[in-house]
Amino acid sequence: MLTLGIETSCDETSVAVTEGRRVLSNEVTSSIHLHKKYGGVVPEIASRYHVEYIEEVLDKALKDSGKSLNDIKLISVTNGPGLVGALLIGISVAKSLSYAAKKPLVGVNHVLAHLYSAFLSEGVPAKFPFVGLVVSGGHTALFLCKGIGEQKLLGQTQDDAVGEAFDKVAKILGLGYPGGPVIEETAKRSSRANNIPFPKSYLGKDSLDFSFSGIKTAVLYYVRDKAHKGTGKKISAALAADICYSFQEAALDVLVDKALLACRLNNTNSIIVGGGVAINGRLREKFEEAGKASGIKAYFPEKRYCLDNAAMVASLGEEFYKKGHRSDLYLAAEPNLEVK
Ligand code: KG4
Ligand code: ZN
Repeated sequence: MLTLGIETSCDETSVAVTEGRRVLSNEVTSSIHLHKKYGGVVPEIASRYHVEYIEEVLDKALKDSGKSLNDIKLISVTNGPGLVGALLIGISVAKSLSYAAKKPLVGVNHVLAHLYSAFLSEGVPAKFPFVGLVVSGGHTALFLCKGIGEQKLLGQTQDDAVGEAFDKVAKILGLGYPGGPVIEETAKRSSRANNIPFPKSYLGKDSLDFSFSGIKTAVLYYVRDKAHKGTGKKISAALAADICYSFQEAALDVLVDKALLACRLNNTNSIIVGGGVAINGRLREKFEEAGKASGIKAYFPEKRYCLDNAAMVASLGEEFYKKGHRSDLYLAAEPNLEVK
């Protein structure tokens, strides 16, 4: 069954064609270069970019897949959470295609699409239950997944998402936007001799919730009081590398520790990880190291399926459709859509 997926929840405009878990095409273009000078995504700019590029991306995705709209059996679209104006573009296109070409329509929750995105890659065994860890710019959450689409929320961030903390720390250090890739690269230049003890927030012994606002503030104060020492001078490249390294280690340790705790509390030894922060090589290393001691294995999506993409939306939409999910032309953009 061929599914056409559409994703426009934030700054990526993406259309994909999938057949089950096989990705025939996954076209992605991003307005990220337009947001850089503002240090974060500007919703109006993101929406306008989607309007401008969605048709081109749609045509390219169909062409790359070697299929035509006639061959498509289902239209799947992200309907939340995300920026309302951005979501509306993808939903409008999906509804138009569904109506004009008489194809069924299914709305997909963006967080769930990240959660199950590891299944687009080969080698993920059907070993349910899994603990699922979603780490993106907007979300940080742990789930117990008993099957695809059968998940229970175990815990989530009480303030900032982990990707958001990467973005804010990069902003404090004047490293630009988005923060994740530049912090990972800068951290590699640290000698690791000067590990700054930034706080790791665990919110209680058995808590599976997260908090990343404290560490972000700790970095802010460190830069203001210790690094600048009141002079306002630019900090050295070596110190910036140490700050990135120490922040990254602390933030990622909490993710790994909590995911392992969730496994122990729920008697499983398999984790699926998804979302933009799942690209991070140090996170992958840490799960690998932790796995050697605990026997717990973490499965990651290929890097191209970590950031926002329509392949994960198409593929999950098909699974939902087969379970009986249906949407219609009343499908609404839901900026705060929760996982059910
Ligand atoms: O999943 P995503 O594309 O968008 C949301 O749904 O939020 O994730 C974007 C987030 C940004 O916060 C970005 O800084 C982070 O993923 N990110 C990274 C890396 N690459 C992107 N975080 C850590 N390390 C990276 N290499
Ligand atoms: Zn996302």
